[in-house]
Amino acid sequence: MVEIQSQRILILDFGSQYTQLIARRIRESKVYSEIFPFNVSIEKIQAFHPEGIILSGGPSSVYDPGAPLPDRRIFELGIPVLGICYGMQAIAHMLGGRVARAQKHEYGRAELIVDDNKGLFKDIPQRSKVWMSHADRIEEMPPGFHVIGHTENSSIAAMADDSRRLYALQFHPEVVHTEQGIRILQNFVYEICQCKPLWEMRSFIEWAIKAIREEVNGKKVICALSGGVDSSVTAVLVHRAIGDNLTCIFVDNGLLRKAEAEKVKKTFQENFHIPLKYVDASKRFLKKLEGVTDPEEKRKIIGNEFIKVFEEEAKKIKDVEFLAQGTLYPDVIESVSFKGPSAVIKSHHNVGGLPEVMKLKLIEPLRELFKDEVRRLGQELGLPEEICWRHPFPGPGLAIRCIGEVTEDKLRILREADSIVLEEVKRAGLYRELWQAFAVLLPVKSVGVMGDERTYENVIAVRAVTSLDGMTADWARLPYDLLERISLRIINEVSGVNRVVYDISSKPPSTIEWE
Ligand code: XMP
Repeated sequence: MVEIQSQRILILDFGSQYTQLIARRIRESKVYSEIFPFNVSIEKIQAFHPEGIILSGGPSSVYDPGAPLPDRRIFELGIPVLGICYGMQAIAHMLGGRVARAQKHEYGRAELIVDDNKGLFKDIPQRSKVWMSHADRIEEMPPGFHVIGHTENSSIAAMADDSRRLYALQFHPEVVHTEQGIRILQNFVYEICQCKPLWEMRSFIEWAIKAIREEVNGKKVICALSGGVDSSVTAVLVHRAIGDNLTCIFVDNGLLRKAEAEKVKKTFQENFHIPLKYVDASKRFLKKLEGVTDPEEKRKIIGNEFIKVFEEEAKKIKDVEFLAQGTLYPDVIESVSFKGPSAVIKSHHNVGGLPEVMKLKLIEPLRELFKDEVRRLGQELGLPEEICWRHPFPGPGLAIRCIGEVTEDKLRILREADSIVLEEVKRAGLYRELWQAFAVLLPVKSVGVMGDERTYENVIAVRAVTSLDGMTADWARLPYDLLERISLRIINEVSGVNRVVYDISSKPPSTIEWE
């Protein structure tokens, strides 16, 4: 791959839950940044050519046996280093200072008082709120350092060695609770590392197109289009690079939302003129799912069937060498902290496994990007708002929202109910605030009364959650009148439903999807 031509900041990850946030803040400041595991070799660090290095926070204590520490040669490269929380303690410990367990744990808000407003704290007000989350503290600074900020509980809340350009913060500048956090990070990046804000989507597009062209080199590429933002942006970007050497394959598994297939066809064929093979495989999928109630079995069947259908279709296209896939940065970070548990709790079946089965080379043009960057990229490429801001939709589709056996009739009910949920959420102007909102069809019937008649019909559960990354989620406090409209409309308009309930569980301990 051609390297991203931009100045860059390297973040070494010591396992903090906030490491990704540091990278995002730097990128929001228009400087490219990547996360490497803390123990990456010095050669790799040098090969990355960073303008600056940030050591993240982490749950360890530096004096524990086996505590994670970076290669000490990073301090001798002449590249500025900023340590955050654990990263600060690592700097103190490795350069001859002393770290000890604090009498009082400092967790939550504190007031930072700036003692030196040059460099890192340039233009930072004398007093501002910062977010602390640590048990250890610096008792003695390493030689060459001086205090640049303190709080009531930490006499050394921030320290610097200007001559070696080494800086350290006890608090977390990357979280929103630190009022001046972004400015502090920007001071590090712009003032100390001398980076220019050049990383933006337009230059990324130019760079990516060039890189894709070089890699593909006139060969044919296929892409599994799902209609979600990641695969859509991948398709449009690759098409810009190599034109009709790209063919997209869209498999209709019969488990899509209402009118979804038509929308995808319209957008990609009519608006973007991208060669698209639409495969209606719904009968095949539904046949395979007959009588199956176990969630994992459903997922496996759908995943395997998808690969089969896709492979059959792909074989019909001659001389294909590459598969374009919308893998994002959070999936590729080799980090200490981001391999969450969800992958083992539910098997996620999308296109994983395709490249191996089909012996294709992968191109993943989004693998350096975060989701919000992909949405902006989509906008820049002219994709409709509706696609750029679309909520995530699971590979197994409505099958895992149709609890128990999946049938045509149940899917009809679910599709209608789901489209009402989405319509009303959008009308209330809440769509973008939510991570997901959808309907689930429960395998229970309940008694109701409509007119003078007793009814005995299905129950729809409405699920709406807020989340940053899908790893944890909170149920959304939707306004009562919105919930009321959703309930009334579903019961009145969807035949076969006489009750609507709202799911008020968070993740953990529940998951977002019901299966
Ligand atoms: P859970 O239910 O595990 O879901 O809390 C977390 C996020 O992942 C989505 N999800 C999937 N996405 N293929 C996907 O691409 C899948 O098989 C799959 N299963 C769940 C889910 O919608 C939520 O956003």
